[in-house]
Amino acid sequence: MENVTVLDHPLIQHKLTIIRDKNTGTKSFREVVDEIARLMAYEITRDMPLEDVEVETPVAKAMMKQISGKKVALIPILRAGLGMVDGMLDLIPAAKVGHVGLYRDPETLEAVEYFVKLPSDISERQLLVLDPMLATGASAIAAIDALKKRGADSLKFVCLVAAPEGVEALRKAHPDVDIYLAALDEKLDESAYIVPGLGDAGDRLFGTL
Ligand code: URA
Repeated sequence: MENVTVLDHPLIQHKLTIIRDKNTGTKSFREVVDEIARLMAYEITRDMPLEDVEVETPVAKAMMKQISGKKVALIPILRAGLGMVDGMLDLIPAAKVGHVGLYRDPETLEAVEYFVKLPSDISERQLLVLDPMLATGASAIAAIDALKKRGADSLKFVCLVAAPEGVEALRKAHPDVDIYLAALDEKLDESAYIVPGLGDAGDRLFGTL
């Protein structure tokens, strides 16, 4: 599927199996989400542009490579996206972090922004929007709407587990956004949980079950 990349490295698949297990407790869940985010950061940054730079080694001067191009900002969607931030920062330590909080209005069922705090230069940054679960796509779409409204134009969406319904909805709403996932699951159930999924990612990360 165009603009959708499944990061199915064996280490990612193995760790995903651990967090899918309902017997995995909060401490392990949090640690393993962190590890997966780190591995995903490694894969997602593969296409970062490089530029030539002269370096003087103890032996000779030589032209070598360094990362160039846009700086990165991580944008976790509250609250579950927070679980992916530290792992990503391990590999992209200079990234800035913005936050987007949304809730669903019980009457209109529309996503409503309740908290948006972003770096001032988001229009110049490569934004990695983080949410472990892409279920219906409603919050991803609303978060990206909120970011674009404020000037963002270079976005990637990163999640652990996606439902086909969510991927389709996000691709339709924001065809310019590359989507990275660790697994594409079967479907949504009648309560909009991903099947087989891993349950409520926020509750499992923060122990609010
Ligand atoms: N959000 C979750 O945390 N889990 C799902 O399965 C769907 C949405």
